[in-house]
Amino acid sequence: MSRLIIVSNRVAPISEGGPAAGGLAVGVYDALKETGGMWFGWSGDVLASGQPQIVLEERGAVTFATIGLLRRDYDQYYRGFSNATLWPAFHYRADLVQYDRHEYEGYSRVNAWLAQQLVPLLREDDVIWVHDYHLIPFAQALRAAGVKNRIGFFLHIPFPASQVLLAVPPHRELVQALCAFDLLGFQTRPDLRAFCDYIVNEAGGTTALQPDGLTRIEAFGQTLCAGDYPIGVYPDEIAELARAGERGKPVRTLKSTLHGRKVIMSVDRLDYSKGLVERFRAFERLLDHTPAQRNKVSFVQIAPPTRADLHAYQDIRLRLEAESGRINGRYAELDWTPIWYIHRQYERAVLAALFRASNVGYVTPLRDGMNLVAKEYVSAQDPEDPGVLVLSRFAGAAQELSGALIVNPLDIDGMADALGTALSMPLAERLARYQDMMAQLRENNVSVWRDRFMRDLGRVGVRQASLPALERAQG
Ligand code: G6P
Repeated sequence: MSRLIIVSNRVAPISEGGPAAGGLAVGVYDALKETGGMWFGWSGDVLASGQPQIVLEERGAVTFATIGLLRRDYDQYYRGFSNATLWPAFHYRADLVQYDRHEYEGYSRVNAWLAQQLVPLLREDDVIWVHDYHLIPFAQALRAAGVKNRIGFFLHIPFPASQVLLAVPPHRELVQALCAFDLLGFQTRPDLRAFCDYIVNEAGGTTALQPDGLTRIEAFGQTLCAGDYPIGVYPDEIAELARAGERGKPVRTLKSTLHGRKVIMSVDRLDYSKGLVERFRAFERLLDHTPAQRNKVSFVQIAPPTRADLHAYQDIRLRLEAESGRINGRYAELDWTPIWYIHRQYERAVLAALFRASNVGYVTPLRDGMNLVAKEYVSAQDPEDPGVLVLSRFAGAAQELSGALIVNPLDIDGMADALGTALSMPLAERLARYQDMMAQLRENNVSVWRDRFMRDLGRVGVRQASLPALERAQG
């Protein structure tokens, strides 16, 4: 069997107390520890000077190959073009896009440099799977270095509508670079459709749905395939973690502080794409409109810091601190704090136990590729007495989790109503919704995600090689 090489900017496991692990690190690690292989990416270190060196480390069946970034590379590639240009644009925040040509040059340079670092570690039959927006030019860079292996790409974040992508000045070069991969994976059909729309209407290419469900793309003189591959979790593993943590200290502390009150739970990296301000206001609106809920429910928002050296992230932090202070000031009583706003990271097992101990999972991003917290929340529930998921229609997870109460995060009254409905939902309805969602999560768990992508990546190569013969036979 071929060896799997995963390439991503962020490599898991993220150390305790380090930056908040996003869905990528969590999902990819779950997928890779079963198959084994190599995971290549940034070590998280930023070096003032010198020549960064690859460090190899074995953990179970996985070899981690990580390398530090020089300060200028970090600034231009990671902080600059990846997170101040691509991240806001891909999350439909064209108003937050900052563009600097030198940063884009740095982004391209670091991709080429990282590819050159990887080349000596590669074997002929390795299959390479590149992840996320930091590494869009990576296949082009590997090809330029003579690599012939199969190379797939998975985008963990949304792919924006063309009119939004046009806000990124080198949009055409980026899409051209994506076309150097053999297979492109998106989280949802709408993301795939947005990409195809760009190919047809902006790049003058063609797209065609194949009988096997993959979309064949011809553009920029390249032929490749694309599909949607919603990333999953291992629901039963999470359920076990949550059950094991039921009597642990964090849950005991939470329960003793709540004194029988209900709890609404949210966990997000502190990011402007997560809709946290709107979420706080909707909770406030619930208290406003439903006096009976006052002193009967608390809202716990765990929001570990992320990318804290970017202005937009400092700004959202200040806004949230102001909002939580304002709302608590307005409603708190001597024995009740309405919003617990916690600016730190917890281990995954602790979060699973807290999810199980809460009545409502409140996951309302303005845009999100998938949002694995939504899937983890459902997985962690007590099958006899599950909580209710309130989920934004703009999270990729909403395409699958129809048992959630689906909300528009910009509709504050609508979200407040959904919270009220969730808090009073009868057991029979909670059970039906939970069972429906668990069935879906089990069917599309993280190994199904990985295996579907790997199967298609294997097929794409074969299909492209034999395509002219196939077409002759059909024609
Ligand atoms: C999202 C992205 C990941 C990223 C993570 C954490 O989940 O899709 O690529 O790793 O956020 O962000 P950070 O900037 O800390 O890696």
